[in-house]
Amino acid sequence: MYDIGIDLGTSAVKLLLLSDEGQVVRTVSRSYPLSFPQPGWSEQNPEDWWSAIVDGMPELLEGVDRVGAIGVAGQMHGLVALDADDHVLRPAILWNDGRTAEETDYLNQQVGTERLQACTGNIAFAGFTAPKLLWMKKNEPDLFARIHKVLLPKDYINYRLTGVFATDYSDAAGMLLLDVAGKCWSEEMLAICGLTDSQMPALHESSDIIGSVLADVAAQLGLPGHETLHLQNESGDSGSPDGEAAAGSQPDNTNPDCEAAAASQAGNNGHYVSVVAGAGDNAAAAVGTGCLHEGQCNLSLGTSGTIFLPCESFRMDPTGATHAFAHAAGNYHLMGCMLSAASCLKWWVEEICESTDYEGLQASINPDNLGKNHVFFLPYLMGERAPLNDPYARGAFAGMRMDTTRAEMTQAVLEGVAFAFRDMAESARALGITINHSTLCGGGAKSDVWKTILANVLNVRLDLLEEEQGPGLGAAMLAARGRGRYASLDEAADQIVKFCGSISPDPELTACYEERYQVFRKIYPAMKELYRAM
Ligand code: XUL
Repeated sequence: MYDIGIDLGTSAVKLLLLSDEGQVVRTVSRSYPLSFPQPGWSEQNPEDWWSAIVDGMPELLEGVDRVGAIGVAGQMHGLVALDADDHVLRPAILWNDGRTAEETDYLNQQVGTERLQACTGNIAFAGFTAPKLLWMKKNEPDLFARIHKVLLPKDYINYRLTGVFATDYSDAAGMLLLDVAGKCWSEEMLAICGLTDSQMPALHESSDIIGSVLADVAAQLGLPGHETLHLQNESGDSGSPDGEAAAGSQPDNTNPDCEAAAASQAGNNGHYVSVVAGAGDNAAAAVGTGCLHEGQCNLSLGTSGTIFLPCESFRMDPTGATHAFAHAAGNYHLMGCMLSAASCLKWWVEEICESTDYEGLQASINPDNLGKNHVFFLPYLMGERAPLNDPYARGAFAGMRMDTTRAEMTQAVLEGVAFAFRDMAESARALGITINHSTLCGGGAKSDVWKTILANVLNVRLDLLEEEQGPGLGAAMLAARGRGRYASLDEAADQIVKFCGSISPDPELTACYEERYQVFRKIYPAMKELYRAM
């Protein structure tokens, strides 16, 4: 038996096949376009996501005879609005879209950060879903009036798989519509955005089974036939010592949508594949790296950069700089998110150097220059989320001289991203959180020099994973847990997540980077006012 994890990313979807023995047997990736219709805007067509999944699935399933369950992890915060016929009303507005400066200001200043935090645990950031809804209400009132359902990207995929409108707490937390501590929709926030409960998907814990793959969709995806699985956790274990999914680790059979999906599937010779609620990509990445409990940390160096800190009980950052979200493991987490991380290197290599030679460009960095670079880079190519909360911020190189080389500018890009990670780590440390060691995932985790820079800028030991699959693996683990292959996510992590070494900070290099960081952190404040004029 195999489980499938789907990681619905910003540049591509990654499909992952996990065996019952806990091995990642195969991964398949399909990319799709990202459009920037206006400066600072970022959109995608949900149909492209679906087509990419349909296209990649046969390759993933070659030779596979039985699939147990599917879990989807997705880019967070995106707005997918459906009409009464369940058609997408407009392209999805993504997590790194900065068009909502006005609406974000309205929420933080008029509604007020105190009120927002009382309702949701969080303040407004431009990428969150609530300001996007306010933007749509103002700028596309006819479309807004036709909204029947508001979904997040991965929930749209779950809807296409099962016909069920559902979401999970980790992803819903990023909408600024969820009372994160209470794990329910905030009536007040819904009213502020002109929405009602009926337009929202049903809420679940991440490994809850929300339904099963519709018969025609199973045929379209080439899913093999299956023995009947009941909408019941096979393990029969309702709780776990770590309190995982305390508010509902059992599938919610009472949801009428689930029943409808199961009934429709019963016509398919009684065979179906279960689909779990899944998670936001960062929570899923944390599951996939075994980062489940307080005291642990996961850094994701992907298109975005995130620092993920689980907490056993709900915890909020009074400054609002660090998000207070729910974890896919049933507990909570704090998270900082920078909008452009590995995407800065992509921009530098592909757009500016007009190359695809990532390795060659990074190999040209002189190791003796680490900690001594005179060039600085601000990585705010899409504005910045945490901790600056400034959609007007932009990228910048500073400190260049006549003898500056391309290698030093490449190094500055890697360091600028690491310094911005440090800003987020400092916000977390200001809350009294200790970060001495962390796991690392995301495309940037492939770069040895970037890992060294990061470990030393943060003064954190990086524990390296044998199988660095982040969200896709986490999603498959949630699926396996949901159908009862594992009694808990802890058991799944113990059996699946393996390490292959670590990178420890070097005190001398850390001291050099400390000096460089103290310069870096003064550049943005000096630029801040200019950005609006730009
Ligand atoms: C998290 C965030 C990003 C996206 C990227 O708050 O916005 O990490 O989830 O996919």
